[in-house]
Amino acid sequence: MQQKWSSGWVFLLAAIGSAVGLANIWRFPYMVGANGGGAFVLVYILSMLCIAIPMLISEVLMGRRGGADPVYSMEFLARESGVSPHWRAFGWLSLLATLTILCFYSVIAGWSFAYIPKVLGGLSSNSVEDIRLEYEMLIASPVEMAFWHGIFMFLTISIVSRGIQNGIETAVKVLMPGLFIILLVLVAFSLYSGGFEDALNYIFNPDFSKLNVEVVLMAIGSAFFSASVGIGAMMTYGAYLKPDVSVPGTAAAVAFVDMGVALLAGLAIFPIIFANGMDPDGGPGLVFVTLPIAFANTDYSVLLGTLFFALLAAASLTSAFSLLEPTVLWLNKNHGVKRIWGAWGVGLIVWLVGLGPVFSFNILKDFHPMATISRFEESTIFDLMDFTVTSIFLPLGAFMICIFIGWRMKTANISQELNLEGSPLFTVWYYSVKFLVPLALLAVFLGSF
Ligand code: TRP
Repeated sequence: MQQKWSSGWVFLLAAIGSAVGLANIWRFPYMVGANGGGAFVLVYILSMLCIAIPMLISEVLMGRRGGADPVYSMEFLARESGVSPHWRAFGWLSLLATLTILCFYSVIAGWSFAYIPKVLGGLSSNSVEDIRLEYEMLIASPVEMAFWHGIFMFLTISIVSRGIQNGIETAVKVLMPGLFIILLVLVAFSLYSGGFEDALNYIFNPDFSKLNVEVVLMAIGSAFFSASVGIGAMMTYGAYLKPDVSVPGTAAAVAFVDMGVALLAGLAIFPIIFANGMDPDGGPGLVFVTLPIAFANTDYSVLLGTLFFALLAAASLTSAFSLLEPTVLWLNKNHGVKRIWGAWGVGLIVWLVGLGPVFSFNILKDFHPMATISRFEESTIFDLMDFTVTSIFLPLGAFMICIFIGWRMKTANISQELNLEGSPLFTVWYYSVKFLVPLALLAVFLGSF
């Protein structure tokens, strides 16, 4: 018997856990910083509403109907609607893409784990120069980075190997409430830091002159990555969903919470940065350098720092489950590989391949594998993996889902699964997936080249 989530609520927690991650807390604030604030935020919110929600609905409904890993589910759905079984190619893309993300995601997630002992050890009482140096030393050390990347993978594997109810469910039931409490504490602190109004202005006052094609594409891509849509991770989680839970309601809840957390993370981070007269445009080092420096100026630097990096660690862990699970399920269902062996075997491979992105910050810093192409002249292994996923795999996967749902899958099967027949909401969703989303995706895809 296939395992199931014990309730719709737990599914919601796990799906939110997958969505809320480094993209919300690490990437979103520095993207806002680097792309001119409010204008970026506006496009991000629009992409969430018009693209991510319809995609989430599509993935979860396909997963629940398919009831298995992405490869098998696609094969089943194609057969059921009488179309080519080659649609299972989406399943292969899904396994490849989720594992590729995990290889570099776990490297940055490892940093957040590395920072917990650093902050506890008094990092924030150091001088600005020392805090900067600490970050530079971490990324310059292949051993330290490989170690923390290994710790992160070890935790992910330990939980996924215990299965849905004993592993992922138990973990998200503890980690997700913890995550929300920490986030609220940090926002509450920021409210009193003195920079709150500036932060609100920065995040919500769009300056449209900053808007260009690149910013729009970046915002759409970020929304995708942030909501975990496009490559079958949510489809796999949907496979464990009982039939009586509403797919559209859950999908909308996931997107709203995901968006809310990104904005709250901004409201936790920017005020304290402004209050200390610092520059929000800190790039990827924003939360690892600028933020500890800002914390250092307060009376609670150890507490704030520890809470913040625990938040980042918990958020990245619950996202990683959804990146390992599809392949573990596939090995289990299709090849009879026991979950524990699958999780450890695949996890170990991810750790080994992940050494590529680890080394691209230090010993392979000047190795640019695609240097012959001018666009990738400066790209490291890490950059290339990130680019492949965000600019190729995610939009491609999402495009395939739209074509399948909009043009291939029998509408009767869709409406049976969604239980929305005759509702205007169904029509809005269906036509977005059929026309609007694929066109937007095409734009992202072409625009990124
Ligand atoms: N959404 C996660 C984050 O915000 C990352 C993630 C987990 C993801 N699973 C995914 C991204 C599937 C794309 C697809 O950090």
